[in-house]
Amino acid sequence: MTVAKPLPHDAAHLHVTGQARYVDDIPAPMNCLHLAFGMADIAHGVITGMDLTAVREAQGVIVVLTAQDLPFDNDVSPSAHDEPLLAKGQVFYRGQPVFLVIADSHLAARHAARLGQITYDEHPAILTIDQAMAADSRFEDGPRIYTKGDVDTAISEAPHHVQGSIDIGGQEHFYLEGQAALALPQEGGDMIVHSSTQHPTEIQHKVAEAIGQPMHSIRVEVRRMGGGFGGKESQGNALAVACAVAARQTGQPCKMRYDRDDDMIITGKRHDIRIVYNVGFDDDGQITGVDFTHFVRCGWAQDLSLPVADRAMLHADNAYHLPAARITSHRLKTHTQSATAFRGFGGPQGMVGIERVLDHIAHHLARDPLEVRSRNFYTSSDSISKTTRPQTTHYGMEVEDFILHEMVEALKVSSEYEKRRAALEDWNAANAVLKKGIALTPVKFGISFTLTHLNQAGALVHVYQDGSIHLNHGGTEMGQGLFQKVAQVAADRFGVPVEAVKITATDTAKVPNTSATAASSGSDLNGMAVKLACDEIRDRMACCLADLHQTDPSKVVFRNGNVDIGAARLSFAEAAALVYQNRVSLSATGFYKTPKLSWDRIKGQGRPFFYFAYGAAVTEVVIDTLTGENRILRADILHDCGASLNPALDIGQIEGGYVQGAGWLTTEELVWDDKGQLRTHAPSTYKIPACSDRPDVFNVTLWDAQNPEQTIYRSKAVGEPPLMLGISALLALSDAVGACGATYPDLDAPATAERILMAVKRVRA
Ligand code: MTE
Ligand code: MOS
Repeated sequence: MTVAKPLPHDAAHLHVTGQARYVDDIPAPMNCLHLAFGMADIAHGVITGMDLTAVREAQGVIVVLTAQDLPFDNDVSPSAHDEPLLAKGQVFYRGQPVFLVIADSHLAARHAARLGQITYDEHPAILTIDQAMAADSRFEDGPRIYTKGDVDTAISEAPHHVQGSIDIGGQEHFYLEGQAALALPQEGGDMIVHSSTQHPTEIQHKVAEAIGQPMHSIRVEVRRMGGGFGGKESQGNALAVACAVAARQTGQPCKMRYDRDDDMIITGKRHDIRIVYNVGFDDDGQITGVDFTHFVRCGWAQDLSLPVADRAMLHADNAYHLPAARITSHRLKTHTQSATAFRGFGGPQGMVGIERVLDHIAHHLARDPLEVRSRNFYTSSDSISKTTRPQTTHYGMEVEDFILHEMVEALKVSSEYEKRRAALEDWNAANAVLKKGIALTPVKFGISFTLTHLNQAGALVHVYQDGSIHLNHGGTEMGQGLFQKVAQVAADRFGVPVEAVKITATDTAKVPNTSATAASSGSDLNGMAVKLACDEIRDRMACCLADLHQTDPSKVVFRNGNVDIGAARLSFAEAAALVYQNRVSLSATGFYKTPKLSWDRIKGQGRPFFYFAYGAAVTEVVIDTLTGENRILRADILHDCGASLNPALDIGQIEGGYVQGAGWLTTEELVWDDKGQLRTHAPSTYKIPACSDRPDVFNVTLWDAQNPEQTIYRSKAVGEPPLMLGISALLALSDAVGACGATYPDLDAPATAERILMAVKRVRA
């Protein structure tokens, strides 16, 4: 079977030899023009004057456009129509695109873009969570609140309480390939757009509106991205729309790519958040009730902030049964980049909240945090029978598939958690300067788009006369290995080697009305759509061949590159040729929608997720209490991918997700000054983990069990969940700081060397 084989990424060879083609590598036509934005250099104000003479006169400049020059819709928002491509008289963040330079080279466009003279009537800027709360600056009328049970009584009547607050920073996506687009004008106003996007249909939609054409005249193609991580769900709209508008205006091909600094200054990042908590619990650390308040900094435009903040609320329980809970979510509007999707889509932030609470409870009771965690777990799927209903989440969904008791027990053993914790206590007692810490944290992540209608996908499959197979679906490839997994599915359905399947670029003209490749559901949705398309062709072939051999279609078997028809055998290629000669179609579409979903986001009730993906990680760290410097010494991970479609790719996702999650919570710090200028806008000042930051010992194992739900080959989504395994790194650092004294460390994230040093001082005081 081709499915479940640990095949390498289909383009691995092309990636490492530099042959993989990204948007900027597509040979551009001779007369291609290049674009750059002129950006606002204040955070909030009204534009009182714009002198673009120097820009227009600069070398190589062809045209300069402002909001007034846009003939159709001036909007690149994926949601609320509140995000002009070019500022309309007012600016809302430092870095906002104000004018567009079209020049004969990339450098000429960038140089000229700096020559604009813009004058403003500057207004006070709302930059921080505190400022936004004070000004009641928010999206939606008031906070969104989900409640389960009588929270206030549950907390007040509990024997123990802790209260606290944690500030969690945002995160820059740092995709290696920056945002890029190329628009090629066609006859009659049609447009072909190449875009580095997770959401080709959204690009098609926004380009259509911006150049006043129906969607049918725009074709968007995406072969691959050099990373997206959620940062290319909506943030590519501006470049693609700018290119299309410029291409329409000039009649020439137009290309735009952000320089790294511009990319960081213009585009949205992960939402930073403050979580305030008040929790009641019993002598064993079992939670009776918890009250969370989320202060979510959304930036200037709505973008995807509402569903992101919803997902943070939906993950406020993580793996734990909360008998009573209230989550209040403030979606704050600030004069900063519009925060956007980032791997986990708010889930990670919500999860850090409850993990912090459990850590705080354990500290308060002087218990092992793992013991407190396990005590609060949902009941195991094993113990659910006809008489005992599963426990429900704070949004009313029954948790039927809970496997973390078993997984955590297995990880505890394989990682020698107890032995190492004891050893570490001895080590800390003997060492005054260096302190070690360890933490085991679980992940339960809900799989499905919470906007229910997005849970659909289409596929288009052709079999050619020579038996080769053309595969297309609505998903996009960003390095996660989706295309290879789906090709494995197609190969398996026809019983041919994966080499017989041609992976092709995502194309809005082949599969229409697609959802973003997001919410980790790429392989669940597209894998299933492809399976259905393949099975349709295979069934037609079987009927045709059975007819010719006067046998039953059930006697036709596709395997090992052959088609067996009773005792007769044809190669797959011979079979395809024969079916073609008998005038049977060898092309089919497939369509899939996720079953069982029902969700009311306003009430916060229902079943937003088809199932949960699980995982757990143990991280051990060491800190230097004189400098705050620290290292991850060892990480052990046990992760649940259901029946893995491709264990090699899944392990890659788990390793990368963990490192990216740990980076978010440790070294990756975004700093804005009091003028709203992002000070960390290049790798010199913003530190993502390097190869050398990888744990010295890094053990990743897949949990061996099928998805109880009927997903593609009983696999589970793997794209986002492992990021949250990185939470164990933050709590291991907190554990190490805690070894310095009796006070709770109260560590904010990212736990940079500076924050660790300050926490050590607090704990020692
Ligand atoms: N892995 C790589 N290498 N590059 C990426 O950009 N994006 C992540 C995850 N893994 C990403 C990645 C995010 S945010 C999501 S939602 C999923 O991949 C999307 O792909 P999938 O649905 O096919 O898992
Ligand atoms: Mo992923 S944040 O859902 O693109």
